Amino acid sequence: MKRMLSGIKPTGRVTLGNYIGAIKPFVSYQDEYEMFIFIANLHSMTVYQEPAELRKNTKDLIALYIAAGLDPERVTLFLQSDVLEHAQLGWYLGCMVSMGELSRMTQYKDKAAKNEVIGAGIFNYPSLMNADILMYDPDFVPVGEDQKQHVELCRDVAEKFNSRYSDTFKVPTPLVAKVGGRIMDLQNPTKKMSKSEETSKGCIYILDDINISKKKIKSAMTDSDNSVHFDKENKPGISNLLEIYSILTNRTIKDIEQQYVGKGYGEFKGDLAEIVGEELQRIQDKYKEITTGSYLDEVLKAGAEKARPLARKKLAKVERKMGITITKR
Ligand code: TYM
Repeated sequence: MKRMLSGIKPTGRVTLGNYIGAIKPFVSYQDEYEMFIFIANLHSMTVYQEPAELRKNTKDLIALYIAAGLDPERVTLFLQSDVLEHAQLGWYLGCMVSMGELSRMTQYKDKAAKNEVIGAGIFNYPSLMNADILMYDPDFVPVGEDQKQHVELCRDVAEKFNSRYSDTFKVPTPLVAKVGGRIMDLQNPTKKMSKSEETSKGCIYILDDINISKKKIKSAMTDSDNSVHFDKENKPGISNLLEIYSILTNRTIKDIEQQYVGKGYGEFKGDLAEIVGEELQRIQDKYKEITTGSYLDEVLKAGAEKARPLARKKLAKVERKMGITITKR
């Protein structure tokens, strides 16, 4: 069985973009792959997190993974900070990457362009991400489009390490869905839907009030053409809604376009609002069921126990090869 690994930061509330670009694909892969899915809480520290909020967002994220359909019996679900080896491997790999490579990462570049004070963590975090991935030798890393560049850097680092110290890491392949890999802001469809936007009108949060989310779909920015067809360049708003529709119904965009020939945006958006509403309702019902009692703690404990032995073994191998360990352990 091929292996997959991915993670999400518990920063802010989980968005429809995270759900469509990451969580939903994870659920669809779990029958075919051996999966490692984690909560990237070390990554969330690149910007200040109010501690109580971080705790809540972390719990919500693990609950959402399960509420969305991930089965902890089959998938290794864990909290990054429970496996200490990530940070240590991140240090070694950080020493193998150049300032130039890190400066080319879009997320860092975007922040740098804003001329604000930037924490060193934002600059360095791709190295920690490389460690998260290479630790477990996954064949594939499913991510949204914005993270593809990081997985490509990870491939370069793996190859560099393997050629310098002999074969140690599997070189992973990023997996970005053709549809849904970049869900856009509903009010500004040329920008990615993101939890960090100042106004939240263009962003749907999975645990938000469902009526508010439906309204956001109905008032999404579109064009004046009133014909439902996919054209990312000239009709970014409607194309974004078509991608959301397609992923949530498992239907092709072509098929959906056919259904709306001769019908206007009002009907299309109304139907999509219902589809989004039903999906959120299903997740929220399940979320309520699993957030009482100690179930989530047990899942995290079991997940960490499955991940740790692999991480220990990999780190020991890395340290042996690099000359860090001087005695046989
Ligand atoms: P994060 O937490 O920003 O996002 C989690 C996942 O959601 C995807 N995503 C989107 N997909 C489609 N449309 C959007 N609007 C959208 N917004 C976010 C992201 O591409 C991502 O797949 N550094 C990573 C977390 C991480 C990780 C890893 C991922 C840490 N270590 C190892 C994979 C492997 C991050 O900040 O993702």
